[in-house]
Amino acid sequence: MLELRKVCKTFPGNVKALQQVDFNLKRGEVHALLGENGAGKTTLMNILFGLYKMDKGSIIIDGKKVKIHSPSNALKLGIGMVQQHFTLVPSFNAVENIALGLSVKDISKVAKRIDEISQRYGLTVNLWTPVWQLSVGERQRIEILKLLYSGARVIILDEPTAVLTPQESDSLFRAIRKMVHQGSSVIFISHKLKEVMDISDRVTVLKNGRNVGTLQRGEFDARKLANMMVGRDIALRTKKTLTNPGSVVLEVENLSSNNDRDLPCLFNVSLNVRSGEILGIAGVAGNGQKELSECITGLRVPTAGRILFSGTDITKASVSKRIQLGICYIPEDRKEVATCPNLSVGENLYMKSASSLWFSPRVVASHAEKLMKKYAIQAKDHETPVKLLSGGNLQKVVIARELESNPRLIVAEHPTRGLDVGSMEFVYKTLIQARDQGCAVLLIAGDLDEIFTLSDRVAVMYEGRIVGYTEPDASNLEKIGLMVAGAVSETKS
Ligand SMILES: Nc1ncnc2c1ncn2[C@@H]1O[C@H](COP(=O)(O)OP(=O)(O)OP(=O)(O)O)[C@@H](O)[C@H]1O
Ligand SMILES: [Mg+2]
Repeated sequence: MLELRKVCKTFPGNVKALQQVDFNLKRGEVHALLGENGAGKTTLMNILFGLYKMDKGSIIIDGKKVKIHSPSNALKLGIGMVQQHFTLVPSFNAVENIALGLSVKDISKVAKRIDEISQRYGLTVNLWTPVWQLSVGERQRIEILKLLYSGARVIILDEPTAVLTPQESDSLFRAIRKMVHQGSSVIFISHKLKEVMDISDRVTVLKNGRNVGTLQRGEFDARKLANMMVGRDIALRTKKTLTNPGSVVLEVENLSSNNDRDLPCLFNVSLNVRSGEILGIAGVAGNGQKELSECITGLRVPTAGRILFSGTDITKASVSKRIQLGICYIPEDRKEVATCPNLSVGENLYMKSASSLWFSPRVVASHAEKLMKKYAIQAKDHETPVKLLSGGNLQKVVIARELESNPRLIVAEHPTRGLDVGSMEFVYKTLIQARDQGCAVLLIAGDLDEIFTLSDRVAVMYEGRIVGYTEPDASNLEKIGLMVAGAVSETKS
């Protein structure tokens, strides 16, 4: 029904993002697009959605060649996309965001139809709250509703589950199944092989801007897909040795804090992390994990309690003091907190090592070249502004900068979000290696597999409190699931 033929796209600097890519989509199917960071997935979809212009190639819909010059062109043809980074207006509510750009006379009619669609697909949202106050999951549901409202029959979702809790992913999958059941088609980009296998009818793998194959359900398994993507076998499970923790590096005592809306969100949290130990914090996003890491790294002022670093009280210490002490931070938001979009890869990698605003371009360049090689950061060169990097490559810039600063404490929020399986394996190894060399690691992740793979101990957070500790053992999965949902609490271990 929809076909992309021999699509080519080269970015300035001879970056060959797509080379003769063929891709086709059938009515009523979920078609996954897989590939390493920088393989060209987002670029291909940006072309289909009219955000980028292809150099060569054609788009054919129902046997007819079409030209797509803009997203509004694409929407007229029934093609809609939820981008890797959302595009809603923060101060508008869901109804205003959806009505934006349409000639609307009666806003209450719009609201009524949105409500109908949202019930039909199980995409519940708060219609009247400004978007900035909503969770990421809710924002994403608004983006999808916006497309369904406009009548899109081809829905492109670029890494939709990267920012979702497992529960939210499940409900997104139910909505996707309803969409295809009603004859729509969904193109689904993800690095999570388990989900891809779960939801897809067909999978296309891109590698270095080329299509390396399209497989049908029944023809693919996780190992095969990983191998097609990376071109070698990947350890889908990372092994680690038992730890022998040393002295306490981080101690949090009865910490309380407010959130961005100035409402209490952390209540009397106490925990400690030792040298040579990874403490995983499991929990559904929005239960205080982000505020906890911000208090530890100095981005948020707690309302009560103390934070000690190797016995020294740092509750009121500045961010730069904490960096000097050896605290590094991989924040959740890589675009707004972790990097400066207009600065180059080299500058973003170097910024924490610089002691003043003046630094030698030669030093920046050699520093960047070393790290780009070690972390396989794909960019034209170190002078490329980071805003032009693919999602996964941007994450690698953050990880490289933070882990290379010889930290004594790593506070990592969702460190492998958006990374392909090969890079994920690398980050896991690097974090375990840091632990083995005596670093203390506080790991915050929504993905229980990640928590289990990396952690030596697991604390569960629910509604701003630590509700219990458990061993990182798959046999505890159900128990942790219940704790995360607030149904059970355990005594402290
Ligand atoms: N606007 C742009 N200007 C220059 N280069 C770009 C631009 N957009 C993408 N690229 C480059 O094109 C290549 C493909 O990027 P793309 O974003 O399509 O990758 P991706 O497969 O979506 O990766 P990820 O999984 O990391 O999101 C990368 O090398 C990227 O740096
Ligand atoms: Mg992408």
